Amino acid sequence: MNIYVKKFLKRLLKYRLTGQFKSFKLTNTIPNPNKTINRIGLYLHIPFCKNLCPYCPYNKIEFDEAKARRYEKAVFKEIDMFEERLKDKPMGSLYIGGGTPTTMLRGLLNIIDYLKRKFNTLRNDICIELAPNDMSQEVLEQLKNAGVTMISIGVESFNDRLNQKLGRKMEGKIIYDSVVRAMTIGFDSVNVDLMFVLPTQTFEELRKDVRTAVECGVHQISAYPLFAFPYTELGKEMKIQNVTRPPGRVIRRMLAIIEQECLNNGYVRCAVWSFIKKEYKKFSSVSRHYYKGFGASSGSMLGDSFYVNTFNVDEYCKTLENNKEPIALSMPFNTRQEMAYWLYWRIYEMYINRDEFSSLFNKDFNKIYGDIFSFLKLIGFATEDKEKIFITGKGSYWVHRVQNEFSLSNIQKIWGTCIFNPWPKEIRF
Ligand SMILES: C[S@@+](CC[C@H](N)C(=O)[O-])C[C@H]1O[C@@H](n2cnc3c(N)ncnc32)[C@H](O)[C@@H]1O
Ligand code: SF4
Repeated sequence: MNIYVKKFLKRLLKYRLTGQFKSFKLTNTIPNPNKTINRIGLYLHIPFCKNLCPYCPYNKIEFDEAKARRYEKAVFKEIDMFEERLKDKPMGSLYIGGGTPTTMLRGLLNIIDYLKRKFNTLRNDICIELAPNDMSQEVLEQLKNAGVTMISIGVESFNDRLNQKLGRKMEGKIIYDSVVRAMTIGFDSVNVDLMFVLPTQTFEELRKDVRTAVECGVHQISAYPLFAFPYTELGKEMKIQNVTRPPGRVIRRMLAIIEQECLNNGYVRCAVWSFIKKEYKKFSSVSRHYYKGFGASSGSMLGDSFYVNTFNVDEYCKTLENNKEPIALSMPFNTRQEMAYWLYWRIYEMYINRDEFSSLFNKDFNKIYGDIFSFLKLIGFATEDKEKIFITGKGSYWVHRVQNEFSLSNIQKIWGTCIFNPWPKEIRF
């Protein structure tokens, strides 16, 4: 598509969804959230990893014992600062992401315990991201005892050659054993993350990876095409200026293989890139509309404002040691923008619950977005029943492809700035 036509269509869609043509602006102001929120999820970011993978766009640094101990104390302080505002509020789940949260296992368990003591309404799922090289029997059992119910394992591939190409220092055998071990612990849900369109990966190698995950009996399989972000080591090596996705036709062919293997083995699609065994609960990092994030680089969505903490681990700790909030950037949200934010993630999850929309915004979903979904239904990208609208398998790739037009460049701008600058003045996107 001609680049100008694409830009024009993008602006038009942005206007239709958010009610504004102008760029959004995150600024270095401390927000003052006021909206009454009935139910809130918690997010905790642990930014340490044993080895740093060259393709990884997330906020992480190499593990260091002293830094981890300082970080744990800083997180306690951030929790204390928020205690009054969150106390007694009904809570959704706690999601712990990274990095590799278990690198600071003792500190992590202390933080989980602290959160549970401070917020006695925190009785829902505790979900955590794990790396296969840090999943001993002891680690897994301690997580289970701490109340972790759902885990996601960053397998990426079971294939040694591909892991080497990716710069991931893990052996296929160790990865496989870790997944098998995790299945014996009794978590409510075990998700495995795979990556595809890896350098030199063949279709058969991908099929084998999916089959291995199926053979382990995991409850959910998520597979992501490898995106290259300019600010990562991979991006620098590739000398790219913009986020680079693998060619669409390769993604679609490979996704068809993943879909075929999953559907043939009793899984159903539960998100654009995820398949689940029907009877299990979905592992997802994006199912909570309102959430409060703790830790460096964590985001918080509090209805009338969205904000992110500084990404820099030392600055995060220093700011809290000085009894100040570690917020780097924030943006006020009007209702229209909040609706668009909600819709973005519901589409990613492939279904929209109209009643949830009405209870959150006190508005009829069809009056606000009905025309868009009538069009999607007409071209076979959506269906509906009385309660929900569903994105179809046929629509999932294309609807998500359009979402990528917005999300990837925004991630590049926001993360790509914040990873290098702890306190940016302003980011427009
Ligand atoms: C924050 S990582 C956590 C996993 C864990 N730290 C590990 O590496 O084993 C979450 C997932 O994002 C996916 N991911 C990471 N970098 C990616 C990239 N450049 N493109 C696509 N997916 C990526 C991987 O599947 C990874 O498991
Ligand atoms: S992919 Fe996982 S282990 Fe690798 S650097 Fe990123 S968060 Fe750390």
